[in-house]
Amino acid sequence: MALVEVRGVVKKFGDTTVLDGIDFDVEEHQVVCLIGASGSGKSTLLRCINGLEATQEGTVTVVGRKVIQDDIKLNRLRRDVGIVFQAYNLFPHMTVLENVMLAPVKVLHLSKSEAKTRARELLARIGMADKADEYPDRLSGGQQQRVAIVRALAMQPKLMLLDEITSALDPELVNEVLLMMIELAEQGMTMVVATHEMGFARDVAHKVCFLHSGRIIEEGHPKKIFTTPTHERTSEFLRRTLESGQM
Ligand SMILES: Nc1ncnc2c1ncn2[C@@H]1O[C@H](COP(=O)(O)OP(=O)(O)O)[C@@H](O)[C@H]1O
Ligand SMILES: [Mg+2]
Repeated sequence: MALVEVRGVVKKFGDTTVLDGIDFDVEEHQVVCLIGASGSGKSTLLRCINGLEATQEGTVTVVGRKVIQDDIKLNRLRRDVGIVFQAYNLFPHMTVLENVMLAPVKVLHLSKSEAKTRARELLARIGMADKADEYPDRLSGGQQQRVAIVRALAMQPKLMLLDEITSALDPELVNEVLLMMIELAEQGMTMVVATHEMGFARDVAHKVCFLHSGRIIEEGHPKKIFTTPTHERTSEFLRRTLESGQM
């Protein structure tokens, strides 16, 4: 069974249909990239996968459990699914170490010393051990985003959802975050990545899904999508992306 199975999902906000019949699978250890213009539904799909949004039709199954709007079930789900957003959302009043320790203590009921050990190990792995006692506003955007990833990893999730996590960064800070994503992929982390970084999608993804108006209108191996897209809208999107220098 796939780690994520989305079947016939329809999501509406009022009268607006934002996801219009999505079928989508993610296998364990796969990196799947969601690409498409702004407003095509990438974030909404990610939010449906970890139950941040309720759906009107269809089913989402993650790690064998159906995603439903029930607090206990959603809490269980979110132990397995880490999510990182575009804007670094570290808690500003907590140090880096405290940010990374928080969920393992609160949700997994790790002792403080266990959580601290885990947090320090993770920070050391990304070369940020010396920042453990800093507050987030003392870090660069790239460092903050890397801490946000580590904070999600501290829960030892089975799946990571990354929503345009490099989009708000100054260009010179994008690479350090992409490198960390590549490393995670190499370690076998299952990831769904909404991104405008076409280089990452081309080089790292096992599968790329192109969204347009709430539908996946083309999906496949990046080699295929980027060289011989079958849908006119995909070629057009890629051409525009290429022109704007994002590839
Ligand atoms: N909470 C919301 N209420 C109403 N409309 C929303 C909401 N969130 C997203 N949308 C709309 O859903 C569409 C898809 O948005 P989104 O999933 O954020 O796309 P993307 O991430 O691809 O840019 C957009 O038209 C957006 O305006
Ligand atoms: Mg988005």
